[in-house]
Amino acid sequence: MLTDWKGRPLRDLRVSVTDRCNFRCGYCMPREVFGSTYEFLPRRQILSFEEITRVVRLFAGLGVRKVRLTGGEPLLRQDLPDLVRMLSALPDLDVALTTNGSLLPQQSRALADAGLRRITVSLDSLDDDIFRAMNDVRFSVARVLEGIDAAAAAGLSPIKINAVVRRGMNDQTVVDLARHFKGSGHVLRFIEYMDVGTTNGWRLDQVVSGQEILDLIDAEMPIEPVDSAYRGEVARRWRYIDGEGELGVITSVTRPFCGDCTRTRLSAEGKLYTCLFAAYGTDLKEVLRGGAGDEEILDMVRGIWNSRRDRYSEVRTEETTGLDRIEMSYIGG
Ligand code: GTP
Ligand code: 5AD
Ligand code: SF4
Ligand code: SF4
Repeated sequence: MLTDWKGRPLRDLRVSVTDRCNFRCGYCMPREVFGSTYEFLPRRQILSFEEITRVVRLFAGLGVRKVRLTGGEPLLRQDLPDLVRMLSALPDLDVALTTNGSLLPQQSRALADAGLRRITVSLDSLDDDIFRAMNDVRFSVARVLEGIDAAAAAGLSPIKINAVVRRGMNDQTVVDLARHFKGSGHVLRFIEYMDVGTTNGWRLDQVVSGQEILDLIDAEMPIEPVDSAYRGEVARRWRYIDGEGELGVITSVTRPFCGDCTRTRLSAEGKLYTCLFAAYGTDLKEVLRGGAGDEEILDMVRGIWNSRRDRYSEVRTEETTGLDRIEMSYIGG
């Protein structure tokens, strides 16, 4: 098992398969910054499925057990089920995907047939106006809910729903969202609003703490804590006392989890980052296309992970949000 200097094992690889996003949610790609003339990466510059699969196979050899496909919006990558099929053929690997859900009605079946087992869908509010205001999109909440139903019908399970909570935007709709998914069999997770990228204009007073969210829900639908499923689990788990399912909170601002962070990220163009808030990544694409052998690549990754010092969420302040870092559209959530 490969561990960094703090003893954190390399367990998860999050792979961004495209920098395109039809969501343009206000978080990482506000329209005023990434306008309609924004140029996405040319195809030649993004990793091929063969290259991604090779990287994943090598990482699996170093102890990675979970691969999450992200974007941009991963379902915008052409022929994504082919990649899912290639990754699912690797042994002992949990393959997951995070999506905005808009293309799930058409694609769920093909993804499930290709071997995908589970997905996470982003949905911040059930209120169309709030949803559109937060996400700057042209599709509706109904479309995302339809996508969730299609995924469930295709057998993808569990389905997790990610809701980022932003004060003054959707905090009033937290309980509605919880009520909607209570008893559905899906797991809703509320996420503290983070200062991802450099374009989302984050302020600390926009963060609604996980505790505040839990209090709001508990007042109407009593809940109790559940033990973590595994060390380093990002979400803290809770369940409804009446037995109608589970929910979670991801408290990356008020209770950071860097001490257990086992995640690394590969961008669509093949750069490897050891933190969501990293300013620099290592260009793996160049190494792959330069003809490097497996051992050479493995040595490189060992070196990168060994010397990793990341703990951004533990040192975050309003001042650190101005530091250089990658955009979330580039690296997924
Ligand atoms: P599973 O346990 O496999 O379902 O995954 P997960 O709980 O890690 O969930 P997911 O990958 O969907 O992450 C949920 C959200 O947590 C992301 O969209 C981010 O907002 C946040 N998050 C995930 N990983 C990190 C991380 O490494 N650092 C920080 N600060 N936030 C993270
Ligand atoms: N803070 C926290 N999480 C975010 N996400 C997007 N923007 C933010 C933010 N500012 C998460 C959402 C989405 C995933 C792609 O990233 O959960 O599901
Ligand atoms: Fe798209 Fe995700 Fe970025 Fe929102 S956070 S614009 S859904 S890539
Ligand atoms: Fe890991 Fe960086 Fe997130 Fe901390 S801030 S949990 S080190 S990705």
